[in-house]
Amino acid sequence: MSRVIAIANQKGGVGKTTTSINLSACLAEKGKKVLVVDIDPQGNTTSGFGVDKNNLENTIYELFLGECDINDCMIKDVIENLSLLPANVNLSGAEIDLLSVDKREYILKKYIDKVRDEYDFVIIDCPPSLNILTVNAMTTADTVLVTIQCEYYALEGLSQLIHTINLAKSRLNPSLEMEGVVFTMYDARTNLSLEVVENVKQSLSQSVYKTIIPRNIRLAEAPSHGMPINLYDSKSAGAESYRLLAQEVICNDEGIEFDINSFKDSNEKTGSKENDKNKNTKKGRVSKIKKRINKEK
Ligand SMILES: Nc1ncnc2c1ncn2[C@@H]1O[C@H](COP(=O)(O)OP(=O)(O)O)[C@@H](O)[C@H]1O
Ligand SMILES: [Mg+2]
Repeated sequence: MSRVIAIANQKGGVGKTTTSINLSACLAEKGKKVLVVDIDPQGNTTSGFGVDKNNLENTIYELFLGECDINDCMIKDVIENLSLLPANVNLSGAEIDLLSVDKREYILKKYIDKVRDEYDFVIIDCPPSLNILTVNAMTTADTVLVTIQCEYYALEGLSQLIHTINLAKSRLNPSLEMEGVVFTMYDARTNLSLEVVENVKQSLSQSVYKTIIPRNIRLAEAPSHGMPINLYDSKSAGAESYRLLAQEVICNDEGIEFDINSFKDSNEKTGSKENDKNKNTKKGRVSKIKKRINKEK
């Protein structure tokens, strides 16, 4: 059984794309088959995997308009075990283009339902708004994962988002559940981060992930190299935290209690092993990505 997770928050800059890329890559590293769906016209998830978003014949936009089939726009094996449905700025026209389309809330679902059984996880990176694209993600998803940046305004807009998720559940997708809240950009040196986490935990009835993603410069650098964090810097604090999050997501999926400390130890071992392995393969993977892009051109 596959699990479709929409990563959402109508606020921009709260770590949705960073989480989509790196959670997906770490799930793939653990041997899970993953499909990443980029439905943000900014296409940052697409470029974050080293795909040249401006030179694609077919993207999720053409798929939404029915101009191509899912296999025409899917980029297979972007990295091992991971395929991508890419997006670019064309998708910003979707809101208007889809106005007259029948059942426009379910377009993505129609396509993902066809292929979801080929994957263990389908991860959807949502745009920073509650528009028709986000609604499509919520009708397609089994669960919604909300990223929250550890900043003063963390709670702002959260009740609206939860209201939207509840609305989507009651009107469009009765089986939709809240996957949980992930805190990102946590800065252990400040009291503010700690206060935000405590504050949000107290005011939310939603489940909160035990894994907290720290602020880590390597996470901000990785996209400009077109690599997820586990390939860019396998031993960084960012890579370790996203490996833990992947493990926690897997435990949730399998209904197993997640003991963060026991996984921290094994994580360190994976990190060093993967790092040695990646020394040899990182270049290979990047050139593979470049070759593929050239072929597509
Ligand atoms: N844990 C982190 N540590 C450092 N920088 C981060 C972290 N998470 C995200 N960023 C950076 O913050 C910015 C916004 O993150 P992003 O994932 O694009 O947010 P969203 O998709 O919600 O708009 C990006 O420049 C990203 O590189
Ligand atoms: Mg984003």
